[in-house]
Amino acid sequence: MIYKVIYGNPDVSSEAVVNEKKVKLVDQEYLKNVIFDECLLKKEKEYLILRIKLKEKRGFYFGFGDKVGPLNRKGRRYIFWNTDDFIHHPGAEPLYKSFPFFIYISKNMKFGIFTDYPGYMEIDLDSEGKGEIEFKVRGEGFNQYIILEEKVKKILKQYLYLTGKNVAFPFWSLGYQQSRWSYSSQSEVLQIAKKFRDKNIPCDVIWLDIDYMEGYKVFTWNKENFSNYKLMLEKLHNMGFKVSAILDPGVKVEKNYEVFEEAKDRYFLKDTSGKDFEGAVWPGRVRFPDFCENKVRKWWARKVNKLLEDGIDGFWNDMNEIAIFASEKDIEDAKEKLKNMKLEDGIKVASVIGEIGEIKKRGRGDEIVHLSGKKHYKLKNVYGFNMIRATFGGFPKNKRKLIITRSAYSGVQRYGGVWTGDNHSWWEHILLEIQRINSLSMVGVFNSGFDVGGFGGNVEPELIVRFMQLGVFMPLFRNHSAIETRRQEPWSFDTEYEELLKDVIVYRYKLIPYLYTSYMLGILEDKPLIAPIFYYFENDEQSYQVFDQFMVGKSLLVAPVYNPGVTKRMVYLPKRALNFNNKIFVRKGWNLVDAPLSKIPHFILDGSIVFMQDEVQYLKNSYNDVLTAHVVAYNDKAVGYLYEDDGESYNYKKGLYNLYKVVYDKGNVQFLTKRNGFLHRKRKIKFKIYRKFGLDEFELEF
Ligand code: GLC
Repeated sequence: MIYKVIYGNPDVSSEAVVNEKKVKLVDQEYLKNVIFDECLLKKEKEYLILRIKLKEKRGFYFGFGDKVGPLNRKGRRYIFWNTDDFIHHPGAEPLYKSFPFFIYISKNMKFGIFTDYPGYMEIDLDSEGKGEIEFKVRGEGFNQYIILEEKVKKILKQYLYLTGKNVAFPFWSLGYQQSRWSYSSQSEVLQIAKKFRDKNIPCDVIWLDIDYMEGYKVFTWNKENFSNYKLMLEKLHNMGFKVSAILDPGVKVEKNYEVFEEAKDRYFLKDTSGKDFEGAVWPGRVRFPDFCENKVRKWWARKVNKLLEDGIDGFWNDMNEIAIFASEKDIEDAKEKLKNMKLEDGIKVASVIGEIGEIKKRGRGDEIVHLSGKKHYKLKNVYGFNMIRATFGGFPKNKRKLIITRSAYSGVQRYGGVWTGDNHSWWEHILLEIQRINSLSMVGVFNSGFDVGGFGGNVEPELIVRFMQLGVFMPLFRNHSAIETRRQEPWSFDTEYEELLKDVIVYRYKLIPYLYTSYMLGILEDKPLIAPIFYYFENDEQSYQVFDQFMVGKSLLVAPVYNPGVTKRMVYLPKRALNFNNKIFVRKGWNLVDAPLSKIPHFILDGSIVFMQDEVQYLKNSYNDVLTAHVVAYNDKAVGYLYEDDGESYNYKKGLYNLYKVVYDKGNVQFLTKRNGFLHRKRKIKFKIYRKFGLDEFELEF
C-alpha cells in the first residue's frame, strides 16, 4: 500500500513521481499507530521540520543511494544537497546525488519512506537512538510517500511504480569499458583500442574525457588532436568498439561559439539581478543551461543528437551538481578577505582560502535563480536529473542508451544510470563501493558502477586486481582514472598482473549469459542485478548484518576481498552453495574460504543453474553458439533461466523477447518457454551437473 502525506504547501516539484493512481492520500494522523506513535510538524525560520517517533526502535535502515558510510544507514544525519566532493573520506557529506528514500526493516514492520523534495533537505535516521526520524526541509512544503508492505521486494517495486521503471542499457554496455582522464588524441585512442585487440583482452567501450573537446567547449571537437574524429570513430566501430563521451553542463562564454550564442539570455540560469549566472569550470568562464525547463532540454537534445550522428554511442554527464569552481563573487570576496591578511594571521588565512569553492559554498542556492523564477536552493538536487533527462531526449526513441550521470535524484533510473563519482585507489574504497552499489539498488538504480581501480591516487598492482574482481559483477564495469595518476589499463603492470587482469576481464565475458539474463529479468520485474543478501533471504536475521557480500541475480553470491595480503575470508551463506572456485559444496552459515589473489570468492546457490559462455573479444548483441550450463544440484534438482532479445531496442517492453525456464531433475532437462517473442537461435549447451555424489556432464541442443 502506498500512502501520501502532503506537508506544508509544496511550491516546487521534483518530477520524480510519475504514477500516483494507486496512491492513497492521507493526513499524518492516519499514519499514527500504523508506523509511528508520535508525529510533530513545526516551522523553524525557513525550514519545515517533521519529527516522527517509530512504534519500535530496533530496526535496520537501507537506502539513500551512494552516500558514503555503512550499508545500514541507522544512527546518522544525512544531508541532501548535491555536491561535488572529489575526496570522499568516510565523513564526506553531502555527495553528488540525492535519493531521499530508505527502507526500514524490523521484526514486526517493513516500510519505505520517500520524502520528495528537490531542494535542501536533511534526514536524521535515529541518531539519538530513540527510534526517532527527523525530516528537515528548507522550503514551504514537501510530499512524503510511505510504502507499507510485507516484503522488501514489494516495497522496492512500489517505489519504482511511483518513480518509474529502470531503462535497459544496450547489450554491449555489459562489456568491459576502458576510460582515462584523458585519452587526449585520436592516435592515442586508436592505440589503446589496438592494444586490447592485439593482446586479446576483451573490451567493448572506450570513453572520451574532456580533452576530446576544443578548449573544453561542450559539443565541439578538438581540431588539432581529434582532427579526423569521424575516421577514428569509424575505425573503432570496425574493430568492435563503442565510444562514449563526456558532457559537462558549463557552456563557455565566448563570442561566436554557436552553443553559447544560441543559449545566452535564453537558456541559462540567472543571478539575482536577472543576468545569466557565470562561474568557473574547465573551460574558464561558463554559464549553465537551466535543464529544469523543457525548451532547454529540447535544445540540448538536438546537440546530443549531432554527436550521435558523428558516431558517438553513449554519454557521461558530469559536473552537474552543479560543480562550480568559483563565481565572480567568490573571487571578489576572497580578494577582500585576503587583502589585509598576513602570514602572521596563521590559521585564519587558511580558513579564508578554504571557504572558497564548491564544497564550502554549499552550492550557491541563493545566488542562482531558475528561469521559472525559483531560487536554486529549491531545485538544486534535480539539476543533474534534468541534465540526463535532456541527454536521453537526444537519442532515437527506440534505441537503448548508455548514459550515466554523476549527479542524480530519485527517478533517474527512467533515463539512465549513475557512477559513484571520484573515488580513490584506496583499499577502503573497494568496501565503500560494495556498500554504495548495494545502496543504489535499494533506491531503485539498477544501472550503476564505480571507477574501477579508483579515480584519484596511484593504484598498486594488488589493489587493481581486487578492484577489478569486484567490477566483474557490476552492471557497469568501467576502469577510469584521473590525470596525473598512475595508468590503469590492464597492461600497465608487471606481466604477472597483466595476466591476472586479463583473466578477470575474460571471466566477465564468460558470465554474460547469466548476467544479461539476470539484468533483463531485473529490468522487467523491478529487481536489481546487485542486491544485499537479505533482499533474497528476508527471514534470515543474520543476512541483515552482512555488508561486504552481495547477490548478483538470485543465484550468485559474491564475497570480494577488500584488504591487502588477504588469502582467506569469512563468508556468510544463507543456504548451501557451490564454491565456484574449487567446485566444492559449502554449508549454510559462516565459512572460512580460500581467496588467493587469482580468485574471487563467489558461490552458486544450491538449486540453481547458471549459464556461461566461452571467451569473446567483444559483445555482438547475442550469446555464443555454445553455452555451458552450470547446474548446482546437491540433491539432483535445480532451476535456471535464459533470456534473449535484440539487445539494442526497447522492444522487450512489448514482450519481444524469449524467456526459458530450465528445469533439471535427476538427469532430465526441460526447457519451459515462458515467453516466445523473439527469433530463437539454436545453440549447443554443455551441461555440468554438480551433485552431492560427483559431477555429471552431457550436451544438448536448444
Ligand atoms: C570529474 C569527473 C571525472 C572526470 C573529470 C574530468 O572529476 O568525476 O570522472 O574524469 O571530472 O572530466
